[in-house]
Amino acid sequence: MKVFAVNSSARTGDVSKTEIILDNLVKGMREEGADVEVINLRKKKIRYCIGCFTCWTKTPGKCLHKDDMTAELFPKYQDCDLCVLATPLFHYTVNAQMKTFIERTLPIALPFFELRNGVTRHPARHEPPPVVLISVAGFPEDSVFDQISSYANYLFGDRLVAEIYRTSSEMISETSTKKAITDIFEATVQGGRELVNNRNISDETMARMTAQITDFEQMAPIGNLMWKTCIDEGVTLGEFQKKNMVPRPDSIETFITIMKIGFNPANADNMKTVIQFNFSGQVKGACYLAVENSSLIAEIGPAKNPDLTIDTPFELWMDILTGKADGQQMFMDQKYTASGNLELLIKFGEFFGG
Ligand SMILES: Cc1cc2nc3c(=O)[nH]c(=O)nc-3n(C[C@H](O)[C@H](O)[C@H](O)COP(=O)(O)O)c2cc1C
Repeated sequence: MKVFAVNSSARTGDVSKTEIILDNLVKGMREEGADVEVINLRKKKIRYCIGCFTCWTKTPGKCLHKDDMTAELFPKYQDCDLCVLATPLFHYTVNAQMKTFIERTLPIALPFFELRNGVTRHPARHEPPPVVLISVAGFPEDSVFDQISSYANYLFGDRLVAEIYRTSSEMISETSTKKAITDIFEATVQGGRELVNNRNISDETMARMTAQITDFEQMAPIGNLMWKTCIDEGVTLGEFQKKNMVPRPDSIETFITIMKIGFNPANADNMKTVIQFNFSGQVKGACYLAVENSSLIAEIGPAKNPDLTIDTPFELWMDILTGKADGQQMFMDQKYTASGNLELLIKFGEFFGG
């Protein structure tokens, strides 16, 4: 099977969630012997369709633009057995690069009108390939893809072999070890295998590929903190992700959320310990983190019998958490105090390094 995959994301590597999903699908296709070529629109020169219809009249089947679409991409689109279109969801639909690519496939149609399934269509000059559509979106609800799905179904009709929609895209990462994410990757590889072998993706595999990984209640507090940190630190989202920056909590509730996300169960094996924080300064109050057998309970309020109690200005601890201040140095400088099992202070970074 000759597969032509078109990636319209402007981003690349671990930052591009379109690329991550596409890479996994392509991996599965190649495993089953497909001849897959991936092209990235960001590297190509493609002019807008100017609506002159030259490709329908003066030079039938050929666009007047002399660019990468005419010379390379359109012939590959015509020749493939399957075309994979992978696009970020921008303003609820395909992004502009993908739309430009799609518009420039016009020479594949003839100008005449015909009635197909009760609606007006143009006949094909050359049989267009079946299409698999991939799209990734930042929001967590499946309904975010309603418009792109409606568009793709109307446009491609029976040629649309599969629609792969990944919500909460910014939560996925190539290097993630979280089970939910690695299962999505494995399922996407499997989806690629199935496309080559069966020309479709089973409901079971599709359900795993598109499984919900978060919802508004989980995503919004951490997402909002992340954006606020990017603004305060003057960094882009890409820089934030590449530098492994930590969203800076602004309340005890968000501190607890961050600690839960950063908890590293593998390093807390066979541990049973309770750490209490007494915060002072701009944010006042207590909370505790109870680690037991690789699980974490984090609650507001004082603990009954803490093994370690940390009394600290809230902002200072957030400086330590986000790597702006050195925890040991701050302790030696008596900027905060700790009582109980001080060894846990050293271990803290191991428990919460995730
Ligand atoms: C201009 C723009 C518009 C976007 N529109 C939406 C949107 O309508 N719905 C949504 O859930 N995410 C939206 N997003 C988020 C992207 O879909 C998300 O960040 C995705 O991971 C981008 O793809 P990439 O990782 O391959 O760059 C938008 C992002 C940008 C930059």
